[in-house]
Amino acid sequence: MSYFLLLVLGLSVIFIFNLFKRKNPKKTAPLPPGPKGLPFIGILHEFDAAHPHVYLRELAKGYGPLMSIKLGSRPAVVISSARVAKIALKNNDVVFSGRPPLVALRKYSYDGNDIAFSDYDQSWREMRKLSVIHLFSAKQVSSFLPIRREEVSRMIKGIMNKSESSEVINLSQAAFFLSNRIICRAGFGKELDEAGKRKFDEVFKETQVISVAFFFRDFFPSLSWIDNLTGTSSRLEKNLRDLDDFFQELIDDHLDPNRPESMRGDILDLLIKLKHEQAAAVPIEWENIKGILMNVFIAGTDTSAALIVWAMTALIKKPEVLKKAQEEVRNVVGSKGTVDEDDIQNLPYLKAIIKEALRLFPPAPLSLPRETIEKCTIDGTIDYKGHDFGFIPFGSGRRGCPGTNFGVATVELGLANLLYSFEWGLPHGMKEEDVDMEAAAGLASHRKNDLFLVAKSYI
Ligand code: HEM
Repeated sequence: MSYFLLLVLGLSVIFIFNLFKRKNPKKTAPLPPGPKGLPFIGILHEFDAAHPHVYLRELAKGYGPLMSIKLGSRPAVVISSARVAKIALKNNDVVFSGRPPLVALRKYSYDGNDIAFSDYDQSWREMRKLSVIHLFSAKQVSSFLPIRREEVSRMIKGIMNKSESSEVINLSQAAFFLSNRIICRAGFGKELDEAGKRKFDEVFKETQVISVAFFFRDFFPSLSWIDNLTGTSSRLEKNLRDLDDFFQELIDDHLDPNRPESMRGDILDLLIKLKHEQAAAVPIEWENIKGILMNVFIAGTDTSAALIVWAMTALIKKPEVLKKAQEEVRNVVGSKGTVDEDDIQNLPYLKAIIKEALRLFPPAPLSLPRETIEKCTIDGTIDYKGHDFGFIPFGSGRRGCPGTNFGVATVELGLANLLYSFEWGLPHGMKEEDVDMEAAAGLASHRKNDLFLVAKSYI
């Protein structure tokens, strides 16, 4: 039998299956305490899909750090202490390295051929190894510095133009475009034209909706026909076709020997090169390449943008902290006019703000679902001193986020320049307490409402 496991740490939640290894295989380990729920549906009737991490944290307060629940036909377990998290994600790293084959995520992974949603198998090991060495290494991330620099400067100029004509700034949009342009240029070396951008936005927005949509097949396999009836399955298929067309076009562009210089050395170019060189112990198929591109878009764009916006939200509500952060960056950068990546190491207060934003508003509060690959008993006797598993915004262990450096580089440079370049305020008539903190449902936790601010140029 497989178990969902949900890990609630502060506000972080991770799904895992098959938690318990039995010391005596003949004896079944008892499930941890938890709400009984209703027959057949378990706790699905009261599950808060919009704020699952908040809902589970509240529930766990009553049942303790190891709690079992039922989501339809899926038994699940919730962990809500750093100690147990460490036992699961560090001491039993391999056991917890699977991902559950949830319908939408499995489809978006090109049937498990990507890195993020594939099973823990030989193909995953090879794709992960390639990506860590060639795509997301510190060297590769720093090779994208010119792209980050140009895109940050483009964002600052855009805000400057608007601020000169006293326009209110939609910071959510500015952060999304920044992160999206960096990902597009680093990913496939190409800027989309207006029509391409509109089409991409439309398709990508649908991906965000469908990737967290409720599929009966996940929780009630015998009722999977309802997904066809409600049209959820066909929406998923249509979105996949659109994405596949997009990726195929990019691949065709990159296979052209006369492709522009900007398409040389980007992530897709590297992947094609690795495929031709057969650089892995398993053949690299086009499905692997498309699956990895999908990961880069889904995992890379939203998370960094969300973090910038949450950090600015928190700062605008605390003007004294905002002021201190601006003083720091302006003292270090002086009259240079722009913050460079080299300056970031001299900005400990900025780094502390980003860390605090990650703690309070983790862009992936549900992390990515985990599945155990063999049974495992958590007995609570393992020493946990010296490690802080209460703070894992990028996950942990062998399935932890390989794009951490990439994401953090975007956030640091983007946020530092926003703080350096402008005095920030709220639109006329708004007070700090009017800024809402509501999050929208999704794989990445965004503000529900866009953040609008007023900017006055400092430089
Ligand atoms: C602020 C930015 C980001 C945050 C907070 C974040 C967070 C996460 C989290 C929580 C996980 C799940 C880890 C686990 O299961 O233990 C994850 C996995 C992953 N992330 Fe990120 N991420 C960010 C940026 C990025 C970027 C920029 C990329 C790629 C360009 C990326 C690529 C991935 C991939 C491929 C995985 C799956 C790893 C695997 O299953 O082996 N992430 N990320």
